[in-house]
Amino acid sequence: LAGYGRVGLALHRLILSQRARIPLRVVGIQTLRHGSAFDQRGLPLDPEFGPLVAPIGEFLDRARPEVLVEATTLQPATGEPALEHLLAAFERGRHVVTANLGPVAHAYAVVAHTAQRSGVQFRIGLPLFQAARLPLPGAKVAGFRAVLSPASSLMLDALRAGRTLADGMEAARTLGLAEGDASYYADGWDAALQAAALANVLFDARITPLQVNRRGIAQLTPEKLDDLRTRHKTVALVARGRLTTAGVSLRVRAEVLDVHDPLASTRGASSVLLLDTDLAGTVGSVVDSAAEQTAYALFRELVDIAG
Ligand SMILES: NC(=O)c1ccc[n+]([C@@H]2O[C@H](COP(=O)([O-])OP(=O)(O)OC[C@H]3O[C@@H](n4cnc5c(N)ncnc54)[C@H](OP(=O)(O)O)[C@@H]3O)[C@@H](O)[C@H]2O)c1
Repeated sequence: LAGYGRVGLALHRLILSQRARIPLRVVGIQTLRHGSAFDQRGLPLDPEFGPLVAPIGEFLDRARPEVLVEATTLQPATGEPALEHLLAAFERGRHVVTANLGPVAHAYAVVAHTAQRSGVQFRIGLPLFQAARLPLPGAKVAGFRAVLSPASSLMLDALRAGRTLADGMEAARTLGLAEGDASYYADGWDAALQAAALANVLFDARITPLQVNRRGIAQLTPEKLDDLRTRHKTVALVARGRLTTAGVSLRVRAEVLDVHDPLASTRGASSVLLLDTDLAGTVGSVVDSAAEQTAYALFRELVDIAG
């Protein structure tokens, strides 16, 4: 396990709670400030950490896992050091399941290709990406519409309640859905990162978050949202991706929606994904993406790899 914060810990707790039926073991944990822990018999939830074993290659050589779970802090501008972690695991013939979207948003094609060349599996252990992999035999996804950033949605909820974007950010922080600078969410960067990752996975777009045509929600006010409400309208930060003959088009915008639009149905930590397909029409999912649900998404992939 690389990273032992909210998600890493929730995954470990889940693995331990299921171990009578599903014999997974955590044999190594790497953190930034607490150091590293190892035990081939399986670590406890609250292990004793020794000195940090780094770089990640050394950690992997010592832990000798079958799978690396990448759950370190997201660095949105580069996707590092998670990208380095993934490549080091592939080089050693280890499968990878990631909760960290950085490498998917910045270098999915390289990652997927390297995993394939190394004969190992690369899985994204995130609820939204599991929803994007709906089993639709023969059908092609032509586009998606999605509300991807729970923190941005909570900021809009705050405006709807007559409060400020900063209040919404505080609510998102409390739920563990946001950290760092509020402008990352208000300016649409979080949604752009996730949209780039989705387009890379669904359309092999080879795009980075910087290339997403993006506008955020910073210009909205409680008064504007109140005015929309009187007309049964609302606003959501919507990502739209489409595969066209000219390539992939991708944009993030605050869109005015009918209050009954499925894209207007996010609550708390939820995201909405609508896939436009050629054979199945539009199919959609609402997913919860807090730490516990993310841990379960990682767990699903681990069980699937083991199976
Ligand atoms: N929280 C959620 O609801 C959620 C949902 C979906 C996806 N994710 C993604 O899951 C990942 C983890 O999120 P989180 O909420 O668990 O974060 P977190 O609570 O901040 O924990 C991050 C962990 O990563 C460790 N870390 C940071 N840099 C590292 C490095 N270079 N090498 C090794 N360990 C490093 C930290 O070490 P220290 O303990 O020493 O600080 C900490 O244990 C992120 O990429 C996030 O975007 C989170």
